[in-house]
Amino acid sequence: MGDLHVSLDRAAGGMAAQISGQLRTAIRQGRLASEVRLPASRELARDLGVSRGVVVEAYEQLVAEGFLLSRVGAGTMVAPAAAIRSPVTEAAPGDSFHGHRATSPDLGAFPRERWLSALRHVLATMPSDALDYGDPGGVAELRQELAAYLRRVRAADVTPGNVVVVGGVAQGLSLTLRALGSPLLAVEDPTSMRQLPLLRAAGVELVSVPVDGEGVDVAALARSGARAVLLTPAHQFPTGVVLSPGRRAELTAWAAETGSIVLEDDYDAEFRFDRDPVGCLQGLAPDRVVLSGSVSKPLAPGLRLGWVVAPPKIAELVRLARAELDLGSPVIEQYALAHVIRTGGYDRHLRRMRREYRRRRDAFVGALAGHLPEVTVLGVSAGLHVYLELPDGWDERTAVEAARTAGIAAEPVAPMRVAPGPPAMVVGFSRLPGHRAESVVGALAAALAGGASRTLRPYVRT
Ligand SMILES: Cc1ncc(COP(=O)(O)O)c(C=O)c1O
Repeated sequence: MGDLHVSLDRAAGGMAAQISGQLRTAIRQGRLASEVRLPASRELARDLGVSRGVVVEAYEQLVAEGFLLSRVGAGTMVAPAAAIRSPVTEAAPGDSFHGHRATSPDLGAFPRERWLSALRHVLATMPSDALDYGDPGGVAELRQELAAYLRRVRAADVTPGNVVVVGGVAQGLSLTLRALGSPLLAVEDPTSMRQLPLLRAAGVELVSVPVDGEGVDVAALARSGARAVLLTPAHQFPTGVVLSPGRRAELTAWAAETGSIVLEDDYDAEFRFDRDPVGCLQGLAPDRVVLSGSVSKPLAPGLRLGWVVAPPKIAELVRLARAELDLGSPVIEQYALAHVIRTGGYDRHLRRMRREYRRRRDAFVGALAGHLPEVTVLGVSAGLHVYLELPDGWDERTAVEAARTAGIAAEPVAPMRVAPGPPAMVVGFSRLPGHRAESVVGALAAALAGGASRTLRPYVRT
């Protein structure tokens, strides 16, 4: 294709990466201007003498990075200039992931066109009255779409009447704990420490229960005296384990016998790469489990949109707690999300991102095996982070700093623990394109090797 100036070195292999690399450079340099249409994948494949799948892969990569937009019926075009300045593509290697959470999605992949067209549709069709204070529990259209989605995809036992729209899982948990009268709450050990201040602010006292390879230790939970427990059964944060079938049964039996409530944070449930995700716990015990989820991973945390699915009485209390707090979530965005789900855009985006994140995880884990075989990847193939256990004697903070310097979002695990454990770190791969995994992990390995004698202090258990 003369216009695109793509020339392939067939001996070097990695054709899709070569094509995406050259197109990326052309876009960055302005040779391919924003909103220019690219040739159809079939056409470019014919011109370059490669299979169509290779071009599709290259285009998908650039769509995921935010350089290209792809619309059904309208083909593929260069993204508008504003969309291209995503940190992962603009920042110099080394600082591109600073300040970015290890658990955040690739924000450059936010489906801007889809969201824009949903907003256009909503603003063109919604009656003026819908802009008034809405139901504090969420607009009916969204509750209906969410109920259908959660039934279909998460095997939840739910009707629109027991869905409450909230501003993310964080708010859902706060409201639920208030509605439950702030019971003694068990949390997993290790756990997401970002949530702890929020839980304490909801007035609960916390007790820790250990997590092992099967998820939460239910016998320890029973001994703790807690009357509620907060869990991440689909992909435990941070260890990445999935709650086993045996533990699910023990847990629901415990909840039924003691009249306790399980707060199920459906963390990372959308992104299981090795098999279909396990259905949610709520579907097994809808009268004992309160399910919380959000669009923070599938779309973007900045939307602040999520849901709580609870037994009817608790759902009503959560709705009232929301009314007392701030009268509800923004209405236009709720309609937009309902539209995106109803028209299949949410499913399509998830399918695309699942493929892309799987590729990124595979590339990252493969590069780790090659460059840092002494580091162990634990947990199932899911989510947007991996839990890396470090060899005995390694210092977590030094390893985290080395990862950040190499351009990887990383967090130490020690601050997430109550009981001591081996050195480990949580590393996010969502914004690390597959073709960069080798060089970034290579840089990490070099930083660790180079600094080993000076900086790798023995790990001190606290
Ligand atoms: C385990 C876990 N669940 C949920 C959340 C919050 O998600 P949301 O953006 O839906 O409030 C976080 C955020 O840090 C988290 O670490």
